[in-house]
Amino acid sequence: SAAEKGGYDYFMLKEIAEQPKAVADTLLGRIDAAGSLTLDEVRIPASVLREIDKVVIVACGTAFHAGLIAKYAIEHWTRIPCEVELASEFRYRDPILDPRTLVIAISQSGETMDTLMALRHAREQGSKVLAICNTNGSTIPRESDAVLYTHAGPEVAVASTKAFLTQLVACYLVALYLGQVRGTKWGDEIQALVRELSRISREVERVLETMEPVRELARSLADKNTVLFLGRHVGYPVALEGALKLKELAYMHAEGFAAGELKHGPIALIEEDLPVVVVVPSPRGRSVLHDKIVSNIQEIRARGARTIVIAEEGDEAVVPYADHLIRIPATPTLLQPLVSTVPLQVFACELATARGNEVDQPRNLAKSVTVE
Ligand code: AGP
Repeated sequence: SAAEKGGYDYFMLKEIAEQPKAVADTLLGRIDAAGSLTLDEVRIPASVLREIDKVVIVACGTAFHAGLIAKYAIEHWTRIPCEVELASEFRYRDPILDPRTLVIAISQSGETMDTLMALRHAREQGSKVLAICNTNGSTIPRESDAVLYTHAGPEVAVASTKAFLTQLVACYLVALYLGQVRGTKWGDEIQALVRELSRISREVERVLETMEPVRELARSLADKNTVLFLGRHVGYPVALEGALKLKELAYMHAEGFAAGELKHGPIALIEEDLPVVVVVPSPRGRSVLHDKIVSNIQEIRARGARTIVIAEEGDEAVVPYADHLIRIPATPTLLQPLVSTVPLQVFACELATARGNEVDQPRNLAKSVTVE
């Protein structure tokens, strides 16, 4: 009913709008006054976490994209090798697992059969499994050694939005917690990041306040067949997520690529007026990547692409090559997906609406996939 949708036309719109709160709620009570993480609910003893020599993340779809981003954070902040694998592929290839492997299973519903089978397989090999889940008491957390709940509230729309942002928050918390428990050399950085994380919900809100041009742009592209998405570093999984949203909602051919791979093949796809969304890393921090992506934008534009550039406020280098420029607030590099994903959600939702598609219930899809 309209009341359930809180005045929005679709649950998806309501859930996109709820993201600042979902992010804040997922942080609530998990950072103490001194800026340290208190994840008491992670009932895996610190002594065990100190002995972990590998992290393996298993998930499907959007949750898998959260896992891909988590890998960058976990390896950078903790120096523990981290693999991310589609849950449906995992157990069939005889993965190397032992009691020193921490397996993280990410699932909004907690009922995804592929993810459940993957975690059962991991536990059979003696690995500890930590679930990141949005649904209290669902099967995946019940069968795991520990759970860190995301507090997105119920997600009704089939296309995942607020659950994704909270999965990212939970992954950052786990990564920082591992760093804290193990006393990595990033001690100071961890404190600073925890502070940044507690400010991020306000930044998500600011992004939401500036989405009208994105909606307008989406409507103008309603008759296109293909949209490509490019990103680098954590912007690469964001590109994959942007493409998945567009497939699910707009039923368009959409693909995400690592921008560095362009010249190894995908650049052949570029043709006159093809919309290409580019997620640009911060010009601060890893500025080498920033400069490389700016030349990618130049290259595809020279070949006729219509460039839709998502870049940090104050990043002037992209301006000459952006047919459309979407601004996001400056954040630490690894946290950027929390703000850069939001315009892509809005974009897909509006395109779906413009194409007359059923936003909350896309064809052929179920909210949780309980069969293998
Ligand atoms: C996301 O928009 C999808 N509908 C889908 O990819 C989803 O993320 C995937 O099925 C995993 O679901 P889960 O998080 O409930 O395990």
